[in-house]
Amino acid sequence: MNVNDSESVAALLDAVGHTRADNENDADVVIINTCSVRGKAEDKALGKAGLLCAAKREQPLVVGIMGCMAQRLGEGIFERIPKLGFIVGARRHGSIPGILARIAAGERGIAEIGEAGEIVDVPHAHLDGGHAAFVTILLGCNRRCAYCIVPDVRGPEHSRAALEVLEEVRTLAAAGIREVTLLGQSVMNYGRTNRVWFDGSAGTNFTEPFPRLLEAVAGVEGIERIRFTSAHPSGCSDELVRAVRDIPQIAPHLHLPVQSGSDRILKVMRRGYTRADYLNAVVRLKAARADFSLTSDVIVGFPGESEAEFEQTRTLMEEAEFDNAFIFKYSPRPGTPAAEMEDSVSEEEKMRRNQVLLADQDRRGQRLNDLWVGRTVEVLADGPSLRNPARWSGRSPQNKIVVFENTGQVAKGELVMVKIDRAAPQTLYGKRC
Ligand code: 5AD
Ligand code: SF4
Repeated sequence: MNVNDSESVAALLDAVGHTRADNENDADVVIINTCSVRGKAEDKALGKAGLLCAAKREQPLVVGIMGCMAQRLGEGIFERIPKLGFIVGARRHGSIPGILARIAAGERGIAEIGEAGEIVDVPHAHLDGGHAAFVTILLGCNRRCAYCIVPDVRGPEHSRAALEVLEEVRTLAAAGIREVTLLGQSVMNYGRTNRVWFDGSAGTNFTEPFPRLLEAVAGVEGIERIRFTSAHPSGCSDELVRAVRDIPQIAPHLHLPVQSGSDRILKVMRRGYTRADYLNAVVRLKAARADFSLTSDVIVGFPGESEAEFEQTRTLMEEAEFDNAFIFKYSPRPGTPAAEMEDSVSEEEKMRRNQVLLADQDRRGQRLNDLWVGRTVEVLADGPSLRNPARWSGRSPQNKIVVFENTGQVAKGELVMVKIDRAAPQTLYGKRC
């Protein structure tokens, strides 16, 4: 979501004649887009902003902070870093071009925060020239997971009108985009909290708004792959599973955060499902499509998580056969219900649990990726690797990173067939065929 917001700001600034610097030393303005999900991300952003503001320069650098942390801390950020040029809240980044014009006129210390979740025209601008794009369909989140700060900073759910989303996808496709990723915190909730408007075209196979949107996006000429994130198990309705089964453009991959494998912890987290519910969704998705890959998020060291409960997360990850997983050490977020609970698992123990799950995931990733050796996969070519420009990388439909030799024939955004000859836990290697 932040990558998408950053791209949107870059595109807005391109449009009014700013140019991008190659690196921060050459820049007149640096904007830091921030995340509040974990304390460490905020500390890093504040540290970086402080360093940039303190840098000795002929022409003082203008530093701005946008996104969730700006929303959460508001003007209080100026007390910590008085030299900041501006701060912009989570749904206000459309005002950045105007703010830069004021900065050019000599103003400093500008704050545009707004209420979390206010309904304003959030920009959905895109940079030219890519082959894959994010399209926001749902802003905010209406769930209240006990550990999570997102609803406080990103506000309540609001779905964009289907016709507006489709127009954006059509424009992207006409500009050469082949893969879209539909974005929302709990993306399958699309159209549940406010009505979205479809045109009256008959013949749709679905009644629920999200599968219906998937079907409509698949109908856009030129869109070859559709992904969506982030998913919640409660969204895995029969219609959604049917959409995954029947719409060939939908990639056979889902990022489905589980957070914990323990029913007790899931309940305290207020996730709204049990271990069995989660595994049931997994079984149905995997039955819908061959070679379906699954990735997930897991939190270790949630308040009160016992050793046995942690072990349940371990076994769940194995049962669900996650192709990849992001593992997070629990971080108390001010104002969330979990922050009122005792942060009972020590930092060392969180670290240990983190390491155990990473090692498990490495072994599992290797085992699952080994099954791809000898097979041929369709890869959407992203571009050369930084270290060796003859080595290109791209993504398979399962969202696996595939590295292959490119002797010049393949262009960015092309779909190529690659025969896999080697596998690592998170990467497949092969040759074009
Ligand atoms: N502490 C640790 N991890 C968290 N996440 C969200 N909130 C917290 C928190 N307070 C993780 C969840 C979520 C991912 C984006 O970040 O796993 O899925
Ligand atoms: Fe946070 Fe839960 Fe909403 Fe995800 S679904 S953004 S974890 S509150």
